[in-house]
Amino acid sequence: MNTNNPSSLCTDAINVLKQNDRGSYTIPASGLYPHQWLWDSCFIAIGMRHYDIKRAQAEILHLLTGQWHNGMIPHVIFADKKNFSPDHNIWRSWLSPDAPNRVATSGITQPPMIAEAVVKIGKKLPIHERRSWYKTVFNPLLRYHQWLYDERDPHNEGLTLQIHPWETGLDNTPPWMHELHQHLLPWWIRGLKSSRLLWIGELLRRDTKYVPATQRLETVDALAFFSIQRRLRRKIYNTDQILPRADFTIEDLVFNSIFIRANEHLAAISKTINQPLPKDFIERTNKTREALNSLWEPYSGQYYSRNFVTHELIKIPSIATLLPLYSGSIPKEQASKLVHLMNDSHFFGSKFPVPTVPLNSPWFKQHTYWQGPVWINTNWLIIDGLIRYGFTDEAKLIKNKSIELMQNSGFSEYFSPLDGSAAGANNFSWSAALAIDMLS
Ligand code: GLC
Repeated sequence: MNTNNPSSLCTDAINVLKQNDRGSYTIPASGLYPHQWLWDSCFIAIGMRHYDIKRAQAEILHLLTGQWHNGMIPHVIFADKKNFSPDHNIWRSWLSPDAPNRVATSGITQPPMIAEAVVKIGKKLPIHERRSWYKTVFNPLLRYHQWLYDERDPHNEGLTLQIHPWETGLDNTPPWMHELHQHLLPWWIRGLKSSRLLWIGELLRRDTKYVPATQRLETVDALAFFSIQRRLRRKIYNTDQILPRADFTIEDLVFNSIFIRANEHLAAISKTINQPLPKDFIERTNKTREALNSLWEPYSGQYYSRNFVTHELIKIPSIATLLPLYSGSIPKEQASKLVHLMNDSHFFGSKFPVPTVPLNSPWFKQHTYWQGPVWINTNWLIIDGLIRYGFTDEAKLIKNKSIELMQNSGFSEYFSPLDGSAAGANNFSWSAALAIDMLS
């Protein structure tokens, strides 16, 4: 695709979403991602609301059908069993008494973007319809946020912890991979590695049948992800059983920044429908805002995620450092420092911003998943944060460059920050949806 006409880009984007539409939910991309994913559907609904508000609402309502009895909203809701039973069987979430009765889902969550999508949809509705929309989703949303506090902030410290890299949505991002590599791999992965039999693991991978292996996770890391997931399954996704011996738990910067913003949206929803939030819940949300600033490291002038067990910051630079802008809860001085990093051509100031890993990092690879490429959803979150802090020129630049990327290389999953070339899946739903939003 190479179209310089914004209205035709918008039409193309709508066509991508229609192709990926499965009735009441949208898959991220055909082949590679055949189910419904939590934060994907939120970004998708944010784009869809511009041309079909009812369909955008349905996208969110379908996500809520996956809600667990304990309040968790899972990161994947599986498509019909007939076609994709291996995916269901890997998770076996039906083993948990908390799993929903009629829907097959994964057993972990993803960044809580739902409140953002709900409010963005609400803003398009006349006030009486907005109120009834908010009333429909308020209780499930509140239960989800309460679950995050109850199960994922066990010491009431303000920050929630994540138990699998998939929960951050930034799967192989360097801070998580650094932590992963600190731990001994299970014996069977070490065995495969030392006897040069990792190719057996490669045969089991579905992703590399659709995307070149160099643009995805290393096989050894994919197996390590699988092994963490198996442990969660053995503990039937019960946090009380998972946490005591979990050495791989992180208070993730991206997740918590999004959670802070989501709590702010939830408060706005509760005000609009006159249904007050519980007092102790409000206290916890205030604490989270304050706690985020404890992740600031003054010497390098960056924010970092924190290891939940050792309480040490994981000082590996990545795009996560910029996401507190989206939370809106950091001092202006820190925001200016982050903008400085964004403009630095050794750091995030690439030809096509914003790379998911700084250019001067030893981890940087221009086409490898979350280890360098530009993703449209992180750009969207950063643009929003920049506008909030008054950096409108910087926001405009990232928006224009994002649109240029999609005009030149299509609605790819991700792009090289150096030359804008496409990587990952084609016709990726959230790229298309956020193009519509950026153009509106
Ligand atoms: C990949 C991404 C994740 C996304 C999913 C579906 O796993 O890392 O963020 O939700 O694909 O698109």
